[in-house]
Amino acid sequence: MTTVTNAVSPYPLDLSRHARRALLEGPTPIQPLPRLSQELGGVNVYVKRDDLTGLGGGGSKLRKLEFLVGEALAAGADTIVTVGARQSNHARLTAAAAAQVGMQCELVLTRAVPRDDFEYLENGNVLLDDLLGARVHDLPGTANALEFAQARADELRAQGRKVYVCPLGGSSPVGCLGYAACAAEIMTQAHAQGLSFARIVVPNGSGGMHAGLAAGLAALGIDPSLVLAYNVLAKAEQAHATTLEKACATLELIDPARRIDGASIVIDAAQLGDGYGIPTDAMCEAVRLMASKEGLLLDPVYGGKAFAGLVQAARSGRLARGENVLFIMTGGLPGLFAYRSAF
Ligand SMILES: Cc1ncc(COP(=O)(O)O)c(C=O)c1O
Repeated sequence: MTTVTNAVSPYPLDLSRHARRALLEGPTPIQPLPRLSQELGGVNVYVKRDDLTGLGGGGSKLRKLEFLVGEALAAGADTIVTVGARQSNHARLTAAAAAQVGMQCELVLTRAVPRDDFEYLENGNVLLDDLLGARVHDLPGTANALEFAQARADELRAQGRKVYVCPLGGSSPVGCLGYAACAAEIMTQAHAQGLSFARIVVPNGSGGMHAGLAAGLAALGIDPSLVLAYNVLAKAEQAHATTLEKACATLELIDPARRIDGASIVIDAAQLGDGYGIPTDAMCEAVRLMASKEGLLLDPVYGGKAFAGLVQAARSGRLARGENVLFIMTGGLPGLFAYRSAF
């Protein structure tokens, strides 16, 4: 088991009781975005580069997979099965992590996004899933992917395989520990760089990243409402309920004496548009803005919509001039190649 020690950190979070397989190279950098900050009227925007992780094209899901694969290996699993939408980044990175640790990987992918063109169905993450050696099960949008995955796991177990089933987005409480650890990493880096953030802005898909950050902050005695999330999958009310539940369950694994209440989970509903995986004008503008001002590439399904929220908050004055805001870049660049037609 690999543990991360932050003995010198003023924000220690002891997760050493939980099995963990290192998949990141170390802390990801926090960088200022001066040209973009100027463009947005003087809100100081920083990025946490969770896209800068090496394995399988990189991305935020590797943080969760450190704990999920750790748990799978500790249970003696030789096969990992997970679920997601056709262009799931979590599925791609699960395949990459499985390849690195020598496990078989099966992906149950639904056509949850109403697209049937070649670039969506076969390019981007789907191409990489294939190269990474995963077996893909192609299900209609209405299918219950987790039920299918459980049934497939039973089938594989009957053949003698030891199977670990991983939920949507890797967002079990154990998976969310990855973002609890990230909360401590952010606070430690901010302290070292002499920075303090008024907001940490993230996308909320399956809610695990938001929940993990909230749990990590709460465990450190910091108000989780520091995190401002934009829902990109479920409607805001549902996203709030799911995220709160996951945050409480994750905190229970870290420090059962602490509590998180509903008011500390902050979700802005303004960027979902017509639904999950459906482009909005604001997303397209935000992706272009980040690319053309800072040379950084956002994905169209998660980061693009959340960053559109940050842009709108800066323009409306919700984020004040001179305020430091941290945007977590979660990766997902391969998804852009499935969305050529949106741009
Ligand atoms: C690139 C990217 N960013 C953000 C998210 C959202 O994370 P979560 O599902 O934990 O809310 C995802 C989830 O799939 C993702 O792939």
